[in-house]
Order: sequence, then C-alpha cells, then structure tokens
Amino acid sequence: MAESRGLNDALRDALEREPDNDGLRRHLAEQELLSGDAPAALLHCRHLLGSDPGDPGLLDLAARAARAAGDETAAARYAAALGPRPPAPPAPGAPAPDDHRDAPQRRPVGGGSWDDDEDDDAADDGWLDVDRPMVRLDDVGGMEQVKHRLQLSFLGPLANPELRASYGAQLRGGLLLWGPPGCGKTLIARALAGELGASFVSLGISDVLDMWVGRSEQNLRDAFDHARRSSPCVVFLDELDALGQKRSQLRHSGVRTTVNQLLSELDGAERDNDGLFVLGATNHPWDVDTALRRPGRFDRSVLVLPPDEPARAAILRGALQTRPTADDVDVDEIVGRTALFSGADLVRLVDDATERAMERAVRSGRVDPVTRSDLRAATKQARPSTTAWFDVAKSYATFADEGGEYDDLLDYLRQHRR
Ligand SMILES: Nc1ncnc2c1ncn2[C@@H]1O[C@H](COP(=O)(O)OP(=O)(O)O)[C@@H](O)[C@H]1O
Ligand SMILES: [Mg+2]
Repeated sequence: MAESRGLNDALRDALEREPDNDGLRRHLAEQELLSGDAPAALLHCRHLLGSDPGDPGLLDLAARAARAAGDETAAARYAAALGPRPPAPPAPGAPAPDDHRDAPQRRPVGGGSWDDDEDDDAADDGWLDVDRPMVRLDDVGGMEQVKHRLQLSFLGPLANPELRASYGAQLRGGLLLWGPPGCGKTLIARALAGELGASFVSLGISDVLDMWVGRSEQNLRDAFDHARRSSPCVVFLDELDALGQKRSQLRHSGVRTTVNQLLSELDGAERDNDGLFVLGATNHPWDVDTALRRPGRFDRSVLVLPPDEPARAAILRGALQTRPTADDVDVDEIVGRTALFSGADLVRLVDDATERAMERAVRSGRVDPVTRSDLRAATKQARPSTTAWFDVAKSYATFADEGGEYDDLLDYLRQHRR
C-alpha cells in the first residue's frame, strides 16, 4: 500500500520533529498497524504506555500490535491488563513527584484489600520467575565484543576477591543491558547468572506495574527479599523503561512510589546483600528514569546489538537442531542475507521454513525435511524487526545524546550506513 506508506512517512517525519506529541505517536501506531508494520506500531505503543500504563484504548492497540507482530506473550499481558481488575486505591502518603530518594518503607495500609501475609512467597504466587540457569556465555553465539565488555566490567572483578575488595565501591549498582528487542539481553543476563553460579530472579517491570496500584512496591520488595534468601543471586529487571517515563511523573504517583521502592532496594543492595547482582534490561534507555542512572544504581550499560554473523549462525543452527533438515541446508547462506535480523526474527524465519516443509509433508503423508530452498524462500519474505527500533533510537541518539552514552549506537549506525 504505497499510499499508506506515504502517510506513515509523513507522520514519522512529523513525530521526529515533535517526539513528545503523544496523540501523533498514537495515530502513527494505528496507521502502522493498519499497513502491516506491527513491530513499529508496538514500539510506539510501548513508548506511550510508559506514560499511560492504564489507558484502555492504548492497551487494546498494544495487544493487537503485539499479536500481529507475533509476540503472543506481550499480547496476552496487554489483554490481561485490559480485563476487569480491582479499582486502584489512592496512593496514600505518596512522596512528592520529584522526591526520588529516601522512599519510606511503605506497606499498604487501610482497607486490607490485598493479601498482606508476611509469609507469602512471590515465587509461590507464580508472578516471579526463579531458577538457576545452566546456560553460559559460551552458549551465546558470537557477540565477542559484548562478552569482552561483560568480562571486564562485571565478571572479572567479581570473580577476583582482591579486585572486589579494592574496587568494591565501583562494583556496586546494576548493569543495564540495552538495545533492540529480541537480540539476546535476556539470554545474556541468564548466561551471566550461569557464569556466577547464581540463582536468577526475573521480573518484568510492566508485569509488576500491571498489578494493583499500591501492590507493586510490595511485589518489588518481595522479589528482592526472595533474591536475598537465594544468594548468590542475579536479579533481572526487564523492561526497566516501563518505570521511567520522564514526562509522566506527575500523572502516575503509583509509578513514582514503585521507582522509589526500587531505588531503596538498589541503594540497600550494597549494604545488606553481598551476593546480590542487579541486571536491568531495556529497549528504550532514553525512557529510563534518570534517578535510576545515578552512580551506584544502573550507572554502567552495555549495548546489545543484533547478532553478528557468528551469532546468527549459532541461532539458526540452534533453531534447526530440533527440525528434520535436508543435507543441502546452507546456514552460511542465510547468515549472509540476514544482517540486522534479531535472534527472535531468525527463530521465526526457521519456523516459517519449517512450515513450508510441513505443508509438503501433509500433502504427501511423509516427513519432508526443511530444505535449502525452504530457508531461502522464508528469508526472502522476512524483514528484520530491528529497523523500526533503529529509526527511533537514531533520533534519540542524535538529538538527546548526553555525555556520549549513545556513542556505541552511533558507531554501529555509521558502520551500517543507517
Ligand atoms: N547471540 C545469541 N546466541 C544464541 N541465541 C540468541 C542470541 N541472541 C539471541 N538469541 C535467541 O534469540 C531469542 C531472543 O533473545 P532474547 O534474549 O529473548 O532477546 P531480548 O531479551 O533482547 O529481547 C532467544 O530465543 C534467544 O535465545
Ligand atoms: Mg528479553
């Protein structure tokens, strides 16, 4: 649809000039979804939900965009957030919006409308993922630069008691993994836990926020308490941006108090919790609350870019491993044609190729392996989902670069002539 593409381009140009125009962004998201660019629409929805997490129209749009983009988990989450839920109690004693520090240790008071049992264990309630990952950095294909940086800035000093003692102050706080969706942030976080022999407690900030207002701080506290009991433990806070929409602080005191709770957990992590390692992940670092980026908090960051060639080969081989494949399958050929594809895009591509083989099998009634031409055909149809992210990221990196924090991204954009 050339016409809608023209309209979308015009809307995108306008948004680049007025990135704070939420109405415009929403309109663009609707248009993008209509014209089949669901990943781009989803990106805008998530940006908007950051400042308006409860907006039903937006949640509905986000659910549809996520479904169209093939992200069923996110679609289900947005749909669930739309469903009937208890009325949000006001947040009594919520600190002033600009008060980022010294959050009172507030437990929900009055009404007693939620379960306030000391013994209740977040992990048992099912909203918190806890396990002990076996995956190691070697299982992450390619990405040598990222691994090198993680080794230098995270694993190396932690593994060496002498360095740990000398650089203790430098080591506190969290490490923020950021970059386009589907490119291995979660995998890397799990691999770091695997390297440390640590448990892994993972929580999606938007899941935390999706729960009743007033309950999210308690949930955060439960998560950190649980992590302390499971030490050594990596606490992985996914979608950190969901908390941090700079522009939204006044509108959502519930979010504000959750940020404060997180800050007090992070600041306390150094005192009380040897053996607690905090990792964060975000696709939208520009939305991460600045209070979270101060020294001792998420002050170190590593950019996780789309998989390079060795990583793409590893991901494709991994995905093909469980499928019947023909001898003529040429992974390197596909690697050469999938620059900028995310890990998730590559997995989807293999699914698509498998579907082609399966259709033949259904017709013939016999197992028919995935062939080179199935993979070629699937590749021809696929598009990298990261390009929409790069378009948005580029404008932030170009116009909002503070202190060179986007230098790695700008280098990559130049190398890839974007
Ligand atoms: N370098 C890599 N090596 C192996 N698998 C990868 C790599 N990067 C991504 N993947 C796979 O791609 C998918 C998406 O990765 P994920 O870690 O969930 O991305 P993110 O958290 O950045 O959205 C997962 O199935 C993951 O295992
Ligand atoms: Mg992830």
